[in-house]
Amino acid sequence: MDIRACLFDMDGVLVDTAKHHFVAWQRLAEELSIPFSREDNEALKGLSRVDSLEVILGMGNLVLDAQTKLQLMDKKNAHYLELISTMSPDELLPGVSEFMADLQREGIRVGLGSSSKNAPQILDLIGLRSYFDAVIDGNQITLSKPDPEVFLKGAQALGLEPEECLVFEDAAAGVDAARTGGFPVVGIGSPEVLGDADAVMPGFKGESWATVLARLS
Ligand code: BG6
Ligand code: MG
Repeated sequence: MDIRACLFDMDGVLVDTAKHHFVAWQRLAEELSIPFSREDNEALKGLSRVDSLEVILGMGNLVLDAQTKLQLMDKKNAHYLELISTMSPDELLPGVSEFMADLQREGIRVGLGSSSKNAPQILDLIGLRSYFDAVIDGNQITLSKPDPEVFLKGAQALGLEPEECLVFEDAAAGVDAARTGGFPVVGIGSPEVLGDADAVMPGFKGESWATVLARLS
């Protein structure tokens, strides 16, 4: 494998934002009288904002018009932004900054392939922005994971072919997206959920570019 770049999903790979998404969606669900648990939130990982709202509305058998849905998404996002406003590099998942520094030393290029429209802001808050040669986020895509659009645009922005870019993903929909796009992919989490990835590891703690390559060989 001639891998020349890494394409990272953000939420759940670089930083644990799921807890903040959960609190914000839960507040909205409460207002709509829809029971929404931490387990329900698991199913939303990797889904776009609008797809997440559709899942929650479906749980409550609620059918709403487009305008109301936009208002609800704005409301959820305002709450989410309030929750993440104090986020700092302390919230980076273990081993992430060391791994980024190692990629830089090894001359491996770095891109972001996130469904989040808040990604640029979050990259700044967690102090990782300077590592990224390309950032593709929810503002630049029309199709959400498992469609490979976000990663294909990432590879294109880096001037590389999919097989030259290693994707890191924590969501099953993201692993599917990478595979459909022809990317090698490392799952971040458990093999039960991410078994379709080329390799699965719990996180970046103790990992380097060399150890990741060894997992793929
Ligand atoms: C993904 C998260 O990365 O981004 C989802 O896993 C989230 O939970 C999605 O819904 C969209 O995020 P945002 O920040 O644009 O609402
Ligand atoms: Mg994710």
